[in-house]
Amino acid sequence: MTVALVDADALVLGIETSCDETAAGVVRGGTEVLSNVIASQADLHAPFGGVVPEVAARAHVENMPMVIDKALRDAAVTLSELHAVAATRGPGLIGALLVGFATGKAMASALGVPFSGVHHIEGHILAAQLEYPDVDPPFVALVVSGGHTSLLAVRELGSYEVLGETLDDAAGEAFDKVARLLDLGYPGGPAIDRLAKRGDAKAIAFPRALSGQGLDFSYSGLKTAVVRYVRGLEAAGERMKRADIAAAFQEAVVDVQVEKAIRAATTMEVPTIVLGGGVASNTRLRERLAEAAEQRGLRLIVPSGRLCVDNGAMIAAAGHFRLRKGEATALDASADASLPL
Ligand code: KG4
Ligand code: ZN
Repeated sequence: MTVALVDADALVLGIETSCDETAAGVVRGGTEVLSNVIASQADLHAPFGGVVPEVAARAHVENMPMVIDKALRDAAVTLSELHAVAATRGPGLIGALLVGFATGKAMASALGVPFSGVHHIEGHILAAQLEYPDVDPPFVALVVSGGHTSLLAVRELGSYEVLGETLDDAAGEAFDKVARLLDLGYPGGPAIDRLAKRGDAKAIAFPRALSGQGLDFSYSGLKTAVVRYVRGLEAAGERMKRADIAAAFQEAVVDVQVEKAIRAATTMEVPTIVLGGGVASNTRLRERLAEAAEQRGLRLIVPSGRLCVDNGAMIAAAGHFRLRKGEATALDASADASLPL
């Protein structure tokens, strides 16, 4: 028999520090977002063209107190009113994870409330219910971000079957690497998204890796193809049409993601696709997936940007869900960079 460790309408603080966002949010009852504070470190990592783990960890230490303080103030909730604390346990960068995880455990211990160490991907999946409380399994979830590219079957909340994953780079990482090659700065996804609107996606035929083969993804070949194309232009002394490269690259990524998400939903015969992760902000991916889903009578759920990127509210929602099932995380547990789902 499960004994719920918090009430249905419990106030949970969620802390997220798996990558380069220091984030905290307060959620009531697992679905009502009272606050969702996200301190991005993008500017700190921009000079390096990607996230530097040591820099991220140090910045989390610096930002954590004010992010938590603001999350409580925005929610108009005091520390003593919290019924539980949740923090991302993994996967992610270990130094970064440790900051939020240790903070969460210390707070739960000091407040005498239960603690939940959350799987980051479960957080991304449960982000949907913060805006669409009527989203019920079964559904297929596509979580695409700087750290992960996962296609999952969710038959019931809490039990996830990994249908496909990236075999090399994460989708967002590919966006960031190509953006760097095109001198677009970091994070590259939004810059490519914007530039691609002015480009011709058909101008260059980049490879659609693993298209039609299984449900895994691969981006290293695509990235190499873009590098080769750019080097070829440079060697020939030709001017580079960056907008075309951005559009053609983006289309290659989106094509395969749409194909696999739709194939997963139709073969599993589920009516809904949930999209999550930072790359879910990509306008072309949203547009193409919405079209494809509509054609097949599937419902597409895409939470708004602040719930798609790494955030504390989704961690609070997942923590609430686990604690309701009677599952707390022991205070001597440690963060895990490659925590299995
Ligand atoms: O979920 P997120 O905030 O953090 C991770 O868990 O990684 O995702 C960040 C990633 C970055 O790689 C960023 O370039 C990408 O999401 N991203 C985008 C867009 N906005 C953010 N990629 C493509 N198009 C976008 N509009
Ligand atoms: Zn994430």
